[in-house]
Amino acid sequence: MAEIKTLEALEILDSRGNPTLDVTVTLNNGVKATAKIPSGASTGKREAMELRDGDKQRYSGKGVLKACGYVEGEILNAVRGMDPNEQKALDSALCKLDGTANKSRLGANAILGVSLASARAAAKDRGVPLYAHLGSDTDYILPTPMLNVLNGGRHADNSVDFQEFMIAPVGAPSFRDALQAAVETFHVLKSVLQLKTYSTAVGDEGGFAPELKSNEEAIELILEAIDKAGYRPGEDIAVMLDPAASEFFEDGGYVFRKSDQSRKKPAEMVALWREWLQKYPAIWSLEDGLGEEDRQGWQQLTRELGDQIQLVGDDNFVTNPELFRQGIQDGIANAILIKLNQIGTVTETLECIALAQEHGYGAVISHRSGETDDTSIADLAVATGVGQIKTGSASRGERVAKYNRLLAIERELAGKARYAGAGVYSRWRKPFAVGKP
Ligand code: PGA
Ligand code: ZN
Repeated sequence: MAEIKTLEALEILDSRGNPTLDVTVTLNNGVKATAKIPSGASTGKREAMELRDGDKQRYSGKGVLKACGYVEGEILNAVRGMDPNEQKALDSALCKLDGTANKSRLGANAILGVSLASARAAAKDRGVPLYAHLGSDTDYILPTPMLNVLNGGRHADNSVDFQEFMIAPVGAPSFRDALQAAVETFHVLKSVLQLKTYSTAVGDEGGFAPELKSNEEAIELILEAIDKAGYRPGEDIAVMLDPAASEFFEDGGYVFRKSDQSRKKPAEMVALWREWLQKYPAIWSLEDGLGEEDRQGWQQLTRELGDQIQLVGDDNFVTNPELFRQGIQDGIANAILIKLNQIGTVTETLECIALAQEHGYGAVISHRSGETDDTSIADLAVATGVGQIKTGSASRGERVAKYNRLLAIERELAGKARYAGAGVYSRWRKPFAVGKP
């Protein structure tokens, strides 16, 4: 049996230049594996807690030396000798050691570092790729990528309230072709922006972040780029949104502070989404269309639009099996966003995905806006066969690293994997379906 022998934690930097953890597990047989931890900006209120030092003398309080210390001290003492193949036992020991509901004592960053590095070590020990270790080895599905090509909200200093405007190459026959279509569109979008003398500087997730006149203009520009790149909007390439509405939900209403200062009631926000879907049938997915605290709004949104479009819950579920179970019961959303560091262990993450699959919910594996070159989420998407991943645009190394990993997996699985494509969305694509009747 392989056993965890040592843990090392290093304070490294994420893609925004903030400290984060790099955790290396060494097994008694000499096998070593590392995981690097991402960090969000538009975080859900009930996410597991990321432990920061709070020492204003270092990195404005954002250092993670305490978390590193816990990994090499208390956590190592508790998990030394454990079998990294027993992920559930390991993760439950980590949760127990922490002892809080939101992992705030040792930090979800410290705990996930150990949980994920151990999974990687177990895979190496077995001599299999991470996707094969975490999943069953039949019927692999390569995910449809959702590339965040226009950034607004908290991820960009511009006048766009909505955080993410994504393109998803749903009509391609393979992952490789899909990525090509999306990337070509990204480059055309750059020239479309240049023609209009907009900035083509990129935001945190590698998408462009121009000073647009309105939120709708973002959609119009993307549709123009898809068309100019030689693809059909809503057939070859669909549009997917994550407005991250919790960020502009204030006192029971939605305030468009970055654009026209208007304010909408929850029912008006639902009406706005209905209008957008009717006007832009190429939109196939809407994440966090309403705020995490607006449960009634979410129920209304799900009732009214839930059989026509994918409605993804991010801030409201925060990859937490308990919150997700409650949400399913309450008729909220029809898909979940999956972020390992929102909950802090591999086991609880897999539990959420299993819950989604059991209840007919979709699942989208996701990066964070602060990332590293760790590519585990690409493997997680293939392992679980959820068929969707969002990991930024076609620029910035930490974003394309995940897409590059998927290209490598596709080649490795030649003939043994299929590309998810449009199939994942077929259960929701009803009245607004595009194309010929
Ligand atoms: P975050 O944003 O990583 O900043 O939380 C991503 C998202 O909202 O999906
Ligand atoms: Zn989101």
